[in-house]
Amino acid sequence: MKSYISASMMCADILRLKETLETFDARGVDYLHIDVMDGRFVPNFCLGTDYAKRLRGLSDIPLDVHLMVERPEDKLSWFEPRPGELCSVHYESTPHTRRALAKIREAGARPVIALNPATHYRAIEHLLDEIDAVLVMTVDPGYAGQVLIEAALKKISLLRNWLDATGYGRVGIEADGNVSFVNARRMRAEGANIFVAGSSSVFERGYVLSEAIEKLRENIL
Ligand code: DX5
Ligand code: ZN
Repeated sequence: MKSYISASMMCADILRLKETLETFDARGVDYLHIDVMDGRFVPNFCLGTDYAKRLRGLSDIPLDVHLMVERPEDKLSWFEPRPGELCSVHYESTPHTRRALAKIREAGARPVIALNPATHYRAIEHLLDEIDAVLVMTVDPGYAGQVLIEAALKKISLLRNWLDATGYGRVGIEADGNVSFVNARRMRAEGANIFVAGSSSVFERGYVLSEAIEKLRENIL
């Protein structure tokens, strides 16, 4: 399965946003990951509607909107999901995951179900026809700069095997949280194919952005 880089915009230097987007474009970064938090589903606030819409005007790279909010089905339309974009809702955030995923599909975007570390991957069995990918949180959602939960690697592996064995080999796996160069290679080996690149890789201090992107890519081939 082809691998993709989704750059975590909450980790981007706002003073260098323009050149960052130009570098992403030149280096073929696949998605711009937008972490949306409501202070309830996760204990933080982050990026929002106006920022997401503005980014679409500044870059042709499709968005990857990660909704860490309660009742995402009521807020999805605020982001105006578009064809070619990824949009994820959390399994734990609403009793109406199917409805939320259907709304993403209706808008022409690609539905993704996100799982907190404590959620068993088989909880999404009834959703497999509705999704294009599963986002596996490899840290607790809400903050950048955390340490990988090792059990999440095994979860990626079990999920990949289960998807392949049940006829859902087309469904991708997105890894989100502490996707360092080393961890990305391990996640890839277990079956992840979309990598949220934040402070642990492309925005790691001490690296030139373009070189960090290439280094990450080498680790997810
Ligand atoms: C949470 C976020 C963070 C972060 C990833 O949904 O997506 O996990 O930006 O970056 P680091 O590398 O800091 O975990
Ligand atoms: Zn995220």
